[in-house]
Amino acid sequence: MKKSPKQACTIQYIPESSAVYSAFYHLIVVQFEKCVPTEPKLKLSRKLDMLSNSKSIDDLLLTPGYVESPYEVFDLLRTEAPVYWSEKWNGWVLTRYDDVLNVLKDFKRLSNGGRYTEYLSTLATDELAQLTYLQNHYERGGLVQADPPSHNRLRKLIGNAFTPRMVNEMGRLVSQISDDLIDSFVGMPEVELIYNFAFALPATVIAGMLGVPIEQRDQFKDWSAAIQRFLGTGKVDFQSALEAQEAWRNMNDFFTQLLLDRTSHPQEDLISGFVQSYEEGERLTKEEIIGTCGAMLVAGHETTTNLISNAIWLLLQDQEQLKQLKENPSLYPSAIEEFLRYESPFQCLPRTLREDVEIDGIRMRKGQLVYAMLGAANRDPCQFDNPEQLDLHRENNKHLAFGYGVHFCLGAPLARLEAHIAIQTLLERLPQMQLDQNRPPDWKRSMVQRGMESFWLCIRS
Ligand code: HEM
Repeated sequence: MKKSPKQACTIQYIPESSAVYSAFYHLIVVQFEKCVPTEPKLKLSRKLDMLSNSKSIDDLLLTPGYVESPYEVFDLLRTEAPVYWSEKWNGWVLTRYDDVLNVLKDFKRLSNGGRYTEYLSTLATDELAQLTYLQNHYERGGLVQADPPSHNRLRKLIGNAFTPRMVNEMGRLVSQISDDLIDSFVGMPEVELIYNFAFALPATVIAGMLGVPIEQRDQFKDWSAAIQRFLGTGKVDFQSALEAQEAWRNMNDFFTQLLLDRTSHPQEDLISGFVQSYEEGERLTKEEIIGTCGAMLVAGHETTTNLISNAIWLLLQDQEQLKQLKENPSLYPSAIEEFLRYESPFQCLPRTLREDVEIDGIRMRKGQLVYAMLGAANRDPCQFDNPEQLDLHRENNKHLAFGYGVHFCLGAPLARLEAHIAIQTLLERLPQMQLDQNRPPDWKRSMVQRGMESFWLCIRS
């Protein structure tokens, strides 16, 4: 596909008389009046409110409309301001596929370390003084915050315990949990899918793998939700930072106890595997194990929840592709990649600049934050034909939903397996399920997670 010439302007404000304003207005009106004629009126008016009440792209980045559907804003940024400085997010927002890919490849200049210190830096000094535990937690490193070469060592030691064989063996268990969860609501007229299935399945799986008792599942949901709220606010706020700090403190205390127990009484679980993992004279430290367990628990369920529920939401709006998938299960692998591309569960990866980097003549300064927008890259027309079209047959789908390079998602095989089994089991066991027209999905108010807080379905056959 021919790539369009790269554009280099940064736009701070959109005057009502400008071509950009009218293009954006047109985009929204066309989309909602022509392409999605059944869209409820309320949603359309909310979108238009979002536009008319906002004077700059920066304002748009924090609106409820952005959260509901960020794609119009992504299009606008990608075409008009692909290297965009956001005051609100206190960082550079990159929306083109090539730029996002280059950022993820370039771990030498764009680091995973120091991101949350910079993210917190807009808070007042007295507020920061109350957040030392949170800052220390993120500065301690651990797999997700580390850069090579220390990242290589951690990834190897963790990979020794979290093996492909372990994931392959999960298939039967995932099917069993899916069936049990569906048994608990099948026959009812309606169900709220997130809590009763899309969250419960991956949370049960990852908690079980780590050796966390099932009774703790709701507790973990609350901790994880507090952490995600903090990361997803865009403009950090003190209250959400305090709540995230409390959640990390509780989670770390919990894993400290579990680690003590497994050190003396090893079991067939991941935390025992981490204790025993050994490579070239190296072992994981206690802090590294605790940090990894927390990261896996948080990273490992919410994203998969989003993937499963977003997929069902997309399929129920496209009866033709739903029929194709039901008739031809060999479509599942490409369908899952397409769900990941089209509604990427993780929308945005932050990095810190270790040195000045220039893109299109725009200089990003050492120490600043860069947001690599996976959700925008995955809809870039320079990379994907008809990116706005969900196409379960899509070939050569090089989406970035699991990231790229050294930090490529360690749980990708597990997420794919869970999504396949979950979606197929739901479609087979609830053949009549439909969207509940009276209760539209409630999207998470997050710039990071693309998923729903609640999602009601009518399921009576
Ligand atoms: C649909 C589901 C999932 C999505 C979309 C997803 C997405 C991602 C992304 C984008 C990254 C890259 C982070 C970065 O570059 O900074 C990542 C890393 C990671 N993911 Fe996932 N993830 C999913 C499921 C899982 C599951 C089920 C697990 C756990 C079993 C998991 C564990 C991890 C870990 C440990 C990392 C850090 C890897 C590293 O830093 O080397 N993820 N994930």
